[in-house]
Amino acid sequence: MRRRTLGFFQVINHGIPESVLEEMKDGVRRFFEQDSEVKKQFYSRDYTRKVIYNSNFDLYTGPATNWRDTIACYMAPHPPQAEELPAACRDILMEYSKQVMGLGYVLFELLSEALGLKTSHLKDMNCAEGLSLLCHYYPACPQPELTIGTPKHADNDFFTVLLQDHMGGLQVLHQNQWIDVPPSPGALVLISNDKFISAEHRVLANRIGPRVSVASFFSTDLQSHCSSRLYGPIPELLSEENPPKYRETTIKDYVTYFKEKGLDGISALLHFRL
Ligand code: OGA
Ligand code: NI
Repeated sequence: MRRRTLGFFQVINHGIPESVLEEMKDGVRRFFEQDSEVKKQFYSRDYTRKVIYNSNFDLYTGPATNWRDTIACYMAPHPPQAEELPAACRDILMEYSKQVMGLGYVLFELLSEALGLKTSHLKDMNCAEGLSLLCHYYPACPQPELTIGTPKHADNDFFTVLLQDHMGGLQVLHQNQWIDVPPSPGALVLISNDKFISAEHRVLANRIGPRVSVASFFSTDLQSHCSSRLYGPIPELLSEENPPKYRETTIKDYVTYFKEKGLDGISALLHFRL
């Protein structure tokens, strides 16, 4: 299976109507193309908030500034009140997260089965509990050779379902080569972790823009940071020939490490490698 070596695949016939995908991208465009005065209300770097708009979550820690703006919405398990979401994309954010959560459940079941585990295994580990939607806006860039849309990184969640528009620019690293992930109407891209490789990827800046994408991050309940539950390699998958490659960590420690490090091109997983 390609996903074992690539950590990346396109999902088609996923059941989310084309109209929902289109309206989601339109909603993101509408939000970012409003007056700054309206957007300002959402501006924050406080990640305990449910809806935050900013540019570069790692502005003060990452080595480079990215050519993109983001609005991040924590949609599950404790969604914001409708009024807390920006009016420009409120309805579609709620509709899209409902639909992508449904798709996420099916993918967790399929991934569990592909690992030879019980269908509900990953769900039972609370992998499908949390959902954050990261809505990105990559403006046209006058000198794309001097910067990058999103630098090389691997995502810090269980998996990501990515909705990207027609502009292109997303690339995935495979055997030391950057491979374009061409936009394909109606397709969602899935990035998986570990046994399934946690693919390193990036987005180029482009003279032509904007480019819009929505990354759905599946995780545990990120806001109950008090959780001391440890996550590590799934015991059922380990054996003498296949010993653990990573040490256990709490999601809180993992996410904190990832955020502080910023997107510096080095996978956060290495820090947990045994
Ligand atoms: C991300 C990401 C890619 C994109 O949000 O982690 O890699 O196309 N996004 O915006
Ligand atoms: Ni990513």
